[in-house]
Amino acid sequence: MNSGFLFSYIDDYMKIEINKDKCRVCGACEAICPSRVFKREDGKMTVHHRHACIDCGHCVAVCHDDAIEHSSFPASKVHEINKEILPTADAVLELCRSRRSNRAFSTRSVPREMIDAILEAAHTAPTASNAQGVEYTVVTSQEHLEFIRRHTIKGYEKMYRMLSMPVVKQLIKIFAPKTYSMRKKIKRVIKEDRKGRDIVLRGATAVILIHTPRDSRFGRDDANLAYQNASLMAESLGVSQFYGGFICSVVRRDKKQIFEKHFGIDGAVQSVMALGMPAIKFHSYIDRKELKVKSF
Ligand SMILES: Cc1cc2nc3c(=O)[nH]c(=O)nc-3n(C[C@H](O)[C@H](O)[C@H](O)COP(=O)(O)O)c2cc1C
Repeated sequence: MNSGFLFSYIDDYMKIEINKDKCRVCGACEAICPSRVFKREDGKMTVHHRHACIDCGHCVAVCHDDAIEHSSFPASKVHEINKEILPTADAVLELCRSRRSNRAFSTRSVPREMIDAILEAAHTAPTASNAQGVEYTVVTSQEHLEFIRRHTIKGYEKMYRMLSMPVVKQLIKIFAPKTYSMRKKIKRVIKEDRKGRDIVLRGATAVILIHTPRDSRFGRDDANLAYQNASLMAESLGVSQFYGGFICSVVRRDKKQIFEKHFGIDGAVQSVMALGMPAIKFHSYIDRKELKVKSF
């Protein structure tokens, strides 16, 4: 594609203009823009590299004069931050400390408005190059939850068979002790499941699949950052959650993408949140291992 065509295409859909009557040339947009779109010239703020814009909206969010007209951010998308309701640093830390992976679920389903609030929090997470390619699939039907459990166990059975082949078993025992100990964990998950104890979903009544386009270079990072926002929101709402790591490890290995196809997902599932209402709640938080930090 020739770059002239590309630029005229961008010109058609992206407009960034400065309302000269409103702009007091404070320089905030110039200082904040990660793409150096703005430049002060002859005492005026000018739009310099419009095509480099990554649509993050920092310029609009920082302008006190309401002077930036950006086609991606009409007034309906711009909201003043309500500083009155922002949590204190102590409150944020207490929330981080009290968020746990609570797997003691009751049979009560998670109200849809709570799931929606959790998704909204996830959706505000940062993404590499502001790609905003993270999407979500919410699973609450028993039939589909059962599919997730069965698919994971089947994947684990396949992995176990492979790791139990005599030559493979001997080789990993000597050269890959971590994989060897993983073989034991896999065996335990399968054994528990056969006894009717589901340790894949542990009675979760909802699952959020977090997925990104397959060619996204930072897809997993983006998904996991979204996950963490979501988990803090879940904690604030009194909803329990844990990371579906067993599910992820099977889904990531599946070249045929059976899991994604089942849910009609055009992309890769990168992280999985299992949710439910708590049957039991924590009343204490426990210190983590010693905080290790190097400073230079
Ligand atoms: C990448 C990742 C994978 C995880 N996979 C599982 C899992 O498959 N099943 C589970 O019950 N918990 C899983 N967890 C939860 C961890 O066991 C839990 O975060 C850890 O024990 C610390 O406890 P906390 O989250 O309550 O602070 C996972 C956590 C992470 C970060």
